[in-house]
Amino acid sequence: MDGLKLTMDNLRNIFQKWEYSESKFRIDFETPPMPCGNQPFHISAGDGGGSGGGCSPAGSVRAKSGSLSKKGSKDTKPPQDSLIINIKRPFSFNHLPQRPPVCIQFTKLSYCISQECNSGQKSLLKSISGKFQSGELTAIMGPSGAGKSTLMNVLAGYRTSGVTGSILINGRDRNSRRFRKLSCYIMQDDQLLPHLTVWESMNVSANLKLGRNMAKKEKRIVIEEILETLGLMDCSNTRTSNLSGGQRKRLSIALELVNNPPVMFFDEPTSGLDSSSCFQCLSLLKCLARGGRTIICTIHQPSARLFEMFDHLYMLADGQCIYQGDISGLVPYLANLSLECPSYHNPADYVMEVACGEHGDVHDKLVLAVTNGKTALFNSHEKSTKEIVANGDANYNNKNAVSCTSALLHSDESLSTLGAGAGFPTSSFKQFVVLINRTFLSIIRDQMLTRMRLVSHLCIGLLIGLIYYDIGDEASKAMNNAGCIFFTVLFLMFTAMMPTVLTFPLEMSVFLREHLNYWYSLKSFYLAKTMADLPFQIVFSTVYVVIVYFMTKQPMEPERFFMVLLMCVLVSLVAQSLGLLIGAGMEIETGTFLGPVTSIPVLLFSGFFVNFSTIPWYLQWVTYVSYIRYGFEGCMIAIYGGNRPKLHCSEAYCHYRSPSKFLEAMDMKGAVFWIDVVALVGFFVLLRVCAYFALKLKLKLNT
Ligand SMILES: Nc1ncnc2c1ncn2[C@@H]1O[C@H](COP(=O)(O)OP(=O)(O)OP(=O)(O)O)[C@@H](O)[C@H]1O
Ligand SMILES: [Mg+2]
Repeated sequence: MDGLKLTMDNLRNIFQKWEYSESKFRIDFETPPMPCGNQPFHISAGDGGGSGGGCSPAGSVRAKSGSLSKKGSKDTKPPQDSLIINIKRPFSFNHLPQRPPVCIQFTKLSYCISQECNSGQKSLLKSISGKFQSGELTAIMGPSGAGKSTLMNVLAGYRTSGVTGSILINGRDRNSRRFRKLSCYIMQDDQLLPHLTVWESMNVSANLKLGRNMAKKEKRIVIEEILETLGLMDCSNTRTSNLSGGQRKRLSIALELVNNPPVMFFDEPTSGLDSSSCFQCLSLLKCLARGGRTIICTIHQPSARLFEMFDHLYMLADGQCIYQGDISGLVPYLANLSLECPSYHNPADYVMEVACGEHGDVHDKLVLAVTNGKTALFNSHEKSTKEIVANGDANYNNKNAVSCTSALLHSDESLSTLGAGAGFPTSSFKQFVVLINRTFLSIIRDQMLTRMRLVSHLCIGLLIGLIYYDIGDEASKAMNNAGCIFFTVLFLMFTAMMPTVLTFPLEMSVFLREHLNYWYSLKSFYLAKTMADLPFQIVFSTVYVVIVYFMTKQPMEPERFFMVLLMCVLVSLVAQSLGLLIGAGMEIETGTFLGPVTSIPVLLFSGFFVNFSTIPWYLQWVTYVSYIRYGFEGCMIAIYGGNRPKLHCSEAYCHYRSPSKFLEAMDMKGAVFWIDVVALVGFFVLLRVCAYFALKLKLKLNT
């Protein structure tokens, strides 16, 4: 039989079966001979019998379900004793945009960083060379601290300063920007927005990553195809915070797959997953590689079964390469250097023991062997640079070539035609619209924070209203009323600033992932973030002001009410901007401390605790940078200024019966309301601009 094509359904079946059980389950993959140097491979899982792993030149893709039965699935055939799926062509997504294949070669690559405590430099990568080819699943292994993540960061273009040596992409010098458009980096901890569903996240990704020319319907097909293939269709309406570890990992991959990047970097994709999910995850990576992509991942201690799934191993120890080449060549290579891997011992464990020095101090010997090209003797498909290039950019248009990329990567796009500029897939406006919608949705769904903010404004408003009930027009309680106004400004300041300080660093990690994977610009993100929270902040402040204003019986004149409201909203927006600046520039712990601490001088010089004339002359300038002073002063003028008639006095003598006399006592007689408004607007703009540059700086320091 020709064999079933590996359709989306078939692959979905595999994933769904993995969800239930991986025992008695065997897959053999067969792919056509690939000029990229891939060997067809063969995986066997569980105790389903058959030959155990190992790269086998022959075979067919076989998924033997044995006694598996699939619960709750309507659209699949009843369980069979033997379900066989033959892949006669590489696994492919038919509707994804087509991209060129990419081979990466690096020579004498070094990476140094300045030491934090002394002026010396620390070398994290020491003149290493290697090549990662399209169509292959490459593992970067090594002991903890060997430099695996560092190498990935350097290759992915996330680290650029301090890097020396050459990195060639399809034989040409790498242009970092251009390369980042072709690649994606999936980090170890899946940074996902918790309040979006799987479908919504995919939708955002599709809207941002797929060009403006693709119709909505086509995007939908792409999303469905990816979700079905990755076995995520069943949880497409599940919020990402409720996904299992394996599903989160698959979603992270799915999000990046949308624009079909030909190079995918994974930092420890299997960490935190159980053996079944690890197998599932690596099978997926293998399939992606077989579609012509260059898949590079770091991995810790894979089991023998997982280890055999890789095509290529790049072994690091102390920033130097101690092996590179086929998995099958590893044991003979080590044996050749008198490092015999015992029978029935996992080669992955053994090579890790060697790298850690458990079998003697062989580090230099291994490094020398790699430098002298000894690994080539044990590799069946060692290739010249010319061939890599041939597999990559130059010849992929050759329709006659049976290439590992033929099913997927025929593309009019070539590496040479990709622009080197910023060139995000969508316009800044489109990015802004997508991001503002997403941020808005996240805020509304964030019940904890949004509802808590609303409830706190309501409750504290009522409490203040009860405490200062009806005192607004009472001359004998003018000082208490000033206290009420001051507290209002103080409360709005803290409730606007602290949530931003606390939540922004968390959003930053998602932003970093998406921005570095070339989804959108910093400008669009920042503008969307800035705008999305404004309506919420305005509504919360208004709720509080309405309750307090009317309960405390402030002057019932619309003009005065709106002046107070304007002041309160402006203060909260300035405080929120300060929170944004602190959140953008600092870690969450530092921000939580610094937020309230920086507010103390701002409050001290607000004009409530000490009058301007009482402050020593050399400290008076501080009052001009205290935004609370402008807010408090503006509210006081709104309530007591503007020729307000004399207040009601319920006692024999009320000192502040005349509102202007009270303003004089507070040193606010000459104050002008509109100056306070302008000052607050100035603070708002300045702080937002500073926060933008703080973000920009942080981004620069992160790369
Ligand atoms: N910014 C830095 N400052 C100082 N040392 C650093 C810095 N970044 C990385 N290192 C050092 O570089 C070395 C390699 O780090 P890297 O994160 O690449 O290790 P790794 O192989 O990925 O380890 P693991 O398996 O634990 O993730 C480590 O010794 C680490 O301490
Ligand atoms: Mg690491």
